[in-house]
Amino acid sequence: MKTSCISVNNDVDKSEAYQQAVDLLNKGEVVAFPTETVYGLGAIATNNEAVNKIFAAKGRPSDNPLIVHIGSIEEVSTYIEEIPEIAIKCMEKFWPGPLTIVMKAKKNVLAKSVTAGLTTVGLRMPDHPVALNLLQLLKQPVAAPSANKSGKPSPTKAEHVEEDLQGLIPLILDGGPTGIGLESTVLDVTVTPPAILRPGGVTKEMLEEVIGEVNQPTLSQQDKKETPKAPGMKYTHYAPNAPVYLIEQDLPTVEKAIEQLRQEGEIIALLAPSEFEELKADYFFSFGQDGDKDEIGVKLYDDLRACDKTNASIILATTTSTDGVGAAIMNRLEKAAGGKWYQLK
Ligand code: TXA
Ligand code: MG
Repeated sequence: MKTSCISVNNDVDKSEAYQQAVDLLNKGEVVAFPTETVYGLGAIATNNEAVNKIFAAKGRPSDNPLIVHIGSIEEVSTYIEEIPEIAIKCMEKFWPGPLTIVMKAKKNVLAKSVTAGLTTVGLRMPDHPVALNLLQLLKQPVAAPSANKSGKPSPTKAEHVEEDLQGLIPLILDGGPTGIGLESTVLDVTVTPPAILRPGGVTKEMLEEVIGEVNQPTLSQQDKKETPKAPGMKYTHYAPNAPVYLIEQDLPTVEKAIEQLRQEGEIIALLAPSEFEELKADYFFSFGQDGDKDEIGVKLYDDLRACDKTNASIILATTTSTDGVGAAIMNRLEKAAGGKWYQLK
């Protein structure tokens, strides 16, 4: 299959590209498109065969449900049996935006493979002009996971989608780099208090201001059986080819680590705020200035992917506090590293 990648930026006439995307989706094909978080790989969420093509292209395990993207709050009642008051408050405050709300799904409305056998479904109204325009032209719900090969970092640029899915999907709408760079917060409102299954751009602090107590399980709590989970979080994620190690965001500590690793013959890629460039790792990928968390979020996946274009044998990534969007950054970094920290000898 040939993969077309069409720019839908403001300076070009976009109507033909959107029509092509709508036609492909209506024919039961998949299309990649930008959202404010990461690029998604979409199919019409009521068409089981189309949704199966998403799983095939990504190599995604079939027990991992998909998020359903909608173009308006009004559509929620088509898919959800009873909409909890808490969910309505969240939609009014955070939609369109990077918040997925998991609720009890109506039976037999969405394709079976979307919910992967669960009784719940995650809905989100994305805040990106391309995604919203596509949804509003299509007038159908779109199931869309991140548009990467399963296990790889999510795509924040159209080029990342091409790297992973070239030849496997017919069309990518290129809307430039995504604004947030980390996937949406997944909030389960079927439990009390509501639980964050995946931290993201809408933080625990922001949610608690609107709906009161919210549970955000720590990594050790997440291992416990009774903790509610997103099925996808158990799989390896966001992993470049070379092993990733976490390290404290401290110049002398990282300097020592680089020295030791060099002596062991390792080729080192360092992901850290820009002031760490002076340490002269073999490869340096900046997290932005002064450890600004929003900037780290924007750059994290691009940096992790860039490591695969080097011959680095080890990747060091500096950590950040878990306040605000730091919870999402550390969640992704811990997954990319498989929990490994670099230990100075
Ligand atoms: O920002 C995003 O959310 C992006 C863009 C494209 O919208 N999408 C995305 O989808 O990250 P995906 O499939 O890569 O991640 C969805 C996560 C998975 O961990 C999945 O297990 C979880 O949400 N999830 C989906 N439906 C669920 C449900 N009903 N109950 C619990 N977890 C669910
Ligand atoms: Mg994903």
